[in-house]
Amino acid sequence: MEVEQINKGKYEHYMQKEIHEQPESLTTTMRGRLIRGGSCKAKSVLLGGLKDHLRTIRRSRRIVFIGCGTSYNAALAARPILEELSGIIVIMEIASDLVDRQGPIYREDTTVFVSQSGETADTLQALEYALENGALCVGITNTVGSAIARHTHCRIHINAGCEIGVASTKAYTSQIVVMAMLALAIGDDTISSQGRREAIIDGLFDLPNKVKEVLKLDEEMKDLAKLLIAEQSLLVFGRGYNYATALEGALKVKEVSLMHSEGILAGEMKHGPLALVDETLPIVVIATRDACFSKQQSVIQQLHARKGRLIVMCSKGDAASVSVGGSCRTVEVPVVEDCLQPVINIVPLQLLAYHLTVLRGYNVDQPRNLAKSVTTQ
Ligand code: G6P
Repeated sequence: MEVEQINKGKYEHYMQKEIHEQPESLTTTMRGRLIRGGSCKAKSVLLGGLKDHLRTIRRSRRIVFIGCGTSYNAALAARPILEELSGIIVIMEIASDLVDRQGPIYREDTTVFVSQSGETADTLQALEYALENGALCVGITNTVGSAIARHTHCRIHINAGCEIGVASTKAYTSQIVVMAMLALAIGDDTISSQGRREAIIDGLFDLPNKVKEVLKLDEEMKDLAKLLIAEQSLLVFGRGYNYATALEGALKVKEVSLMHSEGILAGEMKHGPLALVDETLPIVVIATRDACFSKQQSVIQQLHARKGRLIVMCSKGDAASVSVGGSCRTVEVPVVEDCLQPVINIVPLQLLAYHLTVLRGYNVDQPRNLAKSVTTQ
């Protein structure tokens, strides 16, 4: 462990430091893995740990993502791009639930174990189970030499640097980037998606700059935290690429600020959550530009019609068009490729969770009852 990774430097808390070092941690995650291409060479991705297994992965019947907590959410954020670029069925499994159900895992499956620590007991048990069932096991961890890194057939290190705050922040964004690169590597033999892949690679090169830009919202999110300090609850609505952002944003708020918060798939709004909406409950709606934008505009209209107290996260320049005549608070974020947008959109919510916690006087780096690495069941 490097000394400067342990020092808080100019920051008051590790969580704050880790949120703000994401431009650097993402750069390290991608270092040496993105190939710029040349006059006759296409842009591509190189994941050394996987190169001998890519053919097997491409032939898999299913790709099964397995993880807990934030790591599960990161996999959920990457699922759509993996489905799109690989054309393979992608299944999501919470590690403990897979083990509880003894769910079907086959020899023809590629199972991907996502874990910051590489030591989470449930994820390890699911790994043992997948090994017994003969699946190819891939590890995505932040810890070289961890149990998951050692017991998987092949692995990708996210290289996010040491993460000390119990609430995972920089590991989350690095995990998403690694899984986007995994999707690019698997889809690398498909000519029809080459343009799309190159656009994503360009987006990856520029991502650290865009994260620097979104971090400038720090003061704005502190002001929002001041407004929300005494609330009982906060809902976060997202869909598509940003369903995961809704779950992860709500997880950050609840785990550190100890405020009840729920991430909701906006498509499920009418099947229950709408009953909660009134003029008091704050609701964050993620409505950045992507294929789901018009559906999210309609969600905003419907929540507004029920007097919902809305905070809309939108793409830069869209504030006027999403704020229903200026009646909702907006948070504008920089636009990136749709599949990378979750990396940008989670940052304001990480900042909100951080400031809420400090303002409410709770321990940011070691939330009540939680551990960084859950090694018992
Ligand atoms: C604990 C941590 C979370 C983490 C989860 C999974 O609950 O507090 O931040 O997301 O474990 O941990 P892993 O190390 O497997 O990613």
